[in-house]
Amino acid sequence: MTDAPANSTDSLTVRDNRTGQEYDIPITDGTINAKDLGQIRTSDDLPGLATYDPGFVNTASCRSAVTYIDGDKGILEYRGYPIEQLAESSNFLEVAYLLINGSLPSRAEYDAWVHEITYHTFVHENVKSFMEGFRYDAHPMGMLMASVGALSTFYPDARNISDADNRHMQMVRMIAKMPTLGAWSFRHAQGKPFIYPDNDLGYTANFLSMLFKMSEQKFEADPRLVKALDVLFILHADHEQNCSTNAVRSVGSSQVDPYSAVAAGVGALYGPLHGGANEAVLRMLRRIGKKENIPSFIEGVKAGNEKLMGFGHRVYKNFDPRATIIKKACDDVFEVTGVNPLLEIAKELEKIALEDEYFIKRKLYPNVDFYSGLIYEAFQFPPEMFTVMFAIGRTPGWLAQWSELIQDKDQKIARPKQIYTGDRELTFTPAAQRWR
Ligand SMILES: CC(C)(COP(=O)(O)OP(=O)(O)OC[C@H]1O[C@@H](n2cnc3c(N)ncnc32)[C@H](O)[C@@H]1OP(=O)(O)O)[C@@H](O)C(=O)NCCC(=O)NCCS
Repeated sequence: MTDAPANSTDSLTVRDNRTGQEYDIPITDGTINAKDLGQIRTSDDLPGLATYDPGFVNTASCRSAVTYIDGDKGILEYRGYPIEQLAESSNFLEVAYLLINGSLPSRAEYDAWVHEITYHTFVHENVKSFMEGFRYDAHPMGMLMASVGALSTFYPDARNISDADNRHMQMVRMIAKMPTLGAWSFRHAQGKPFIYPDNDLGYTANFLSMLFKMSEQKFEADPRLVKALDVLFILHADHEQNCSTNAVRSVGSSQVDPYSAVAAGVGALYGPLHGGANEAVLRMLRRIGKKENIPSFIEGVKAGNEKLMGFGHRVYKNFDPRATIIKKACDDVFEVTGVNPLLEIAKELEKIALEDEYFIKRKLYPNVDFYSGLIYEAFQFPPEMFTVMFAIGRTPGWLAQWSELIQDKDQKIARPKQIYTGDRELTFTPAAQRWR
């Protein structure tokens, strides 16, 4: 039994009905330390009490000062700054600096940061050769995951993670090279030549150039498209301990180099439950086809036949602040590209759902993915590219969280417990005897 904490009101008293013993467990920041449960045991020979929490539904895995979310109030802040203000008045590279360094840059810091990122956008020519080796129909996320992981072999010094300057260098490289790798994954599927970075262009404009440039001397995208894509990157830049960030932290906790850790994050994001929802929204809108079909579709959702994709969120229960911003970005993009006919269906679907008792009762609102797919489609990206866009935006967040992890004295190698449910102490019979 532990001593009662200094302020014993900030504690939890647990009575173990198996033994009748009571324990006082300190509560700090609204959590108990799972290790404190270990003292609750029925005998010295048996393991102490543990928690069972698949999916970390109610378990804090770290202390973090990067991103704050209040799901009930629809609040998302990076390092304390509201997402709405960052999307409106900042840009992606400044937000990346903020996430990684913890505060906004001075003019000189910003210029140096942009310069560093710009001049690290090129990749070693051998990266090009192995990217060319993928099958013609390789999924761009598979290519991105493999090529980010492969960067660790080009920068073996990256494993020196205890050196702050070294960490900085690798983070710069990764943010800089992600668009190059992402764009080349896209070009490969199209059978088009890879386009080298253009250091005269800003981060997002350069990405668009590497995606779409053909024979012209210089590719300069419409500034409204550049701005809209930059906003999308900002919206995706971090989202505290989501599945891919947890993957980065978990793999990073082994003290592997950051390229390998981020490759794990790309792998996690690849999954349909994480980065793939916007693609599902598009498929759903296409299937609905016209406004007249919406009521019967909604009835099907309410009957439990399927989900209204792009609605609902594990954390946001009133609105997803990113959805509001993205809806505005949609209008800006369509002003340039012409309206995607699916937008009309999306807007009508949203209107009907938001007035429907089923969705109101369950606090189901549009999430970030409801409109992002429409924007990406307006850019003429095939659906497989949507998650690549997400990955480029999320890279500074992954790195900020990785850097925090490396410097956090509380962190240990990730190694969850299990509840063993298998056989014990069987006697092995060699195959030659078993198959006789
Ligand atoms: C995001 C999501 C996985 C969150 O799930 P969750 O927090 O575990 O919520 P639950 O699955 O417990 O849902 C609670 C209730 O709302 C319903 N619900 C949740 N999302 C729904 C949706 N998109 N359409 C219809 N019903 C939905 C559930 O069926 C459940 O109803 P019930 O209480 O009658 O059983 C879920 O809302 C979803 O699948 N949305 C669609 C996919 C999507 O847009 N994902 C992107 C997230 S950014």
